[in-house]
Amino acid sequence: MNAELYLTPVPFDRVNLTDKSVVAIDVLRCSTSICAALQAGAREVIPVPGPGEAGDLWAKLGREQAVLAGEREGVRIENFQLGNSPAEFTADRVGGKTVVITTTNGTQVYNKTKGSKLVVTGALVNVRAVSELIAREGRDLVVVCSGHEGGFSIEDTLCGGMILDLLASVHNVSLTLNDAGSLALLLYRSNKESLDQAIGQGEHGRYLSSIGFADDVATASTVDSMPVVPVMVDGRLATLPVALQRQ
Ligand code: MLT
Repeated sequence: MNAELYLTPVPFDRVNLTDKSVVAIDVLRCSTSICAALQAGAREVIPVPGPGEAGDLWAKLGREQAVLAGEREGVRIENFQLGNSPAEFTADRVGGKTVVITTTNGTQVYNKTKGSKLVVTGALVNVRAVSELIAREGRDLVVVCSGHEGGFSIEDTLCGGMILDLLASVHNVSLTLNDAGSLALLLYRSNKESLDQAIGQGEHGRYLSSIGFADDVATASTVDSMPVVPVMVDGRLATLPVALQRQ
């Protein structure tokens, strides 16, 4: 399997995605919150780039059907019901509903995945389930790390490296990697006993802790704690069985 990893979404526009699987990663915290919402029973999650667009879509869907969530600078957007803290996505708030979410980096990637065969949300909380699906599908892989405002982020790279490691070591997939993929794999293998520490000490981990979200950093670092695979169909992320029914 050819597996390319992109440390940031910047070069992603130029990548040919035809017939490939794409894993979109934003460990802190968008991917983790998407998993939390689906794990709590949300019907689907619609990632959108901007707050205005998110608000319009939420109004169109209606408050009975939909919940509006998102952050800028880590903090809930004014007049939004939820922020981007995985702990906020509880069954009583999102169960049976559509979550419309916009975040600074994580939701920006999804509308760049046109042409690909499969798009899934990757996080540490669902890393094993994601790698199982990617191995089963057997298509060439593109892993895109959302990073932070155009730059590299350690938590997304560790997660990408872990997906590659699981493909190689658990699923016996023979991988041909690009250099960023090799780097991510090395980074993961040299930090795998202390992922939570590496993430907590990273730039965004430190920032989130400084504004009161240390628990979110711990939640997002807990491997395989939310074994859902959000799969995108028609711009909507849903758990695998629901998404397949829509195809
Ligand atoms: C993002 O999309 O940049 C993040 O999810 C930011 C955050 O931690 O809320």
